Amino acid sequence: MTIEQFIPTNLNTNANGGAVTWSSPSNIALVKYWGKKEHQIPENQSISFTLNTCKTITKLSYSKKETSNNNFSFKVFLDGDHKEDFEPKIKTFFERIDPYLPFLKAYHFKIETENTFPHSSGIASSASGMSALAMCLMSIEKELNPEVSDEYFIKKGSFLARLGSGSACRSIEGDLVVWGKHNDIEGSSDLFGVKYPYQVHDNFKNYQDTILLVDKGEKQVSSTVGHNLMHGHPFAQERFKQAEKNITKLKTILACGDLEAFIALVESEALTLHAMMMTSMPYFILMKPNTLEIINKIWSFRKQSGLHISFTLDAGANVHILYPENEAEAILEFIKTELVAYCQNGHYICDRIGFGAKKL
Ligand code: DP6
Repeated sequence: MTIEQFIPTNLNTNANGGAVTWSSPSNIALVKYWGKKEHQIPENQSISFTLNTCKTITKLSYSKKETSNNNFSFKVFLDGDHKEDFEPKIKTFFERIDPYLPFLKAYHFKIETENTFPHSSGIASSASGMSALAMCLMSIEKELNPEVSDEYFIKKGSFLARLGSGSACRSIEGDLVVWGKHNDIEGSSDLFGVKYPYQVHDNFKNYQDTILLVDKGEKQVSSTVGHNLMHGHPFAQERFKQAEKNITKLKTILACGDLEAFIALVESEALTLHAMMMTSMPYFILMKPNTLEIINKIWSFRKQSGLHISFTLDAGANVHILYPENEAEAILEFIKTELVAYCQNGHYICDRIGFGAKKL
């Protein structure tokens, strides 16, 4: 598919208005997206587990503008409070998606959003937030053109979400989503995420993700700034090739259920992501002392117990603990007795693989 296919030709903007609501989850990358080109095109392919519990619920109300003008008109509310500081980000999003949704300037929008996880938890809400909003906009497109097919709806929802935040394009479907054109993944594209199209071993069904909230503060360096520091980064090209190879390796691992190989690949990806940050110019560190304490505890518990516990990291200090469902009891006990002490105010979230965005 090309971008031109996402430009609608027969939209009718006679509808006076209405409201739509979607919920959309966060996702956790196994092979990380880090580095992008212009127009939110990724430098390397990535793959993620869609989450289940951490999600955003967005209601988008739209009403026909009395007098048409060439501006976007919208207001954003988080948990019922008007959030002016969110509006520049949404304006940038609207500017990027305007060519693909020619009705945007014909309506006034009210965006009412809430997250199932605390706003100041250090959990990025951009993936769930942007994907929920993208799906609401797709529902309006469908109102204006009922001929939109289900396949187009999902692909374009992911395409739009990507223009809001790259990783958001991996939240529309589940349980595994690939983003970025890869020769070994049929149907994959730089423009949108696709549901992983191959058989996955039972070991990975209902995989668990317990998120340890190590630092709930605002990050010192945003993902967007971090991605940009991959331009001219001394190790960038090798890193992009490594991600491509890791997707090929992961395909074999997912088919045969090799948990040891899965752990090695996923942990190496997390540490490589942070190594890229530490070797950028300017360099930065997003891990905190407690992040390292947790990683070391996981390693020694894994050695001593033989259980398949592993970790991954986002662009922050929080730790995602990944493990198979059939080992959940012992691992959760370990988390509660040994790891919760390293979390800010003892906070953690029990999540697991989920299946994507839903219309409410
Ligand atoms: C470290 O998707 O937040 O979580 O495209 O600039 O919005 P923007 O970046 P974003 O980057 C997320 C990067 C990551 C890894 C990943 O999710 O693949």
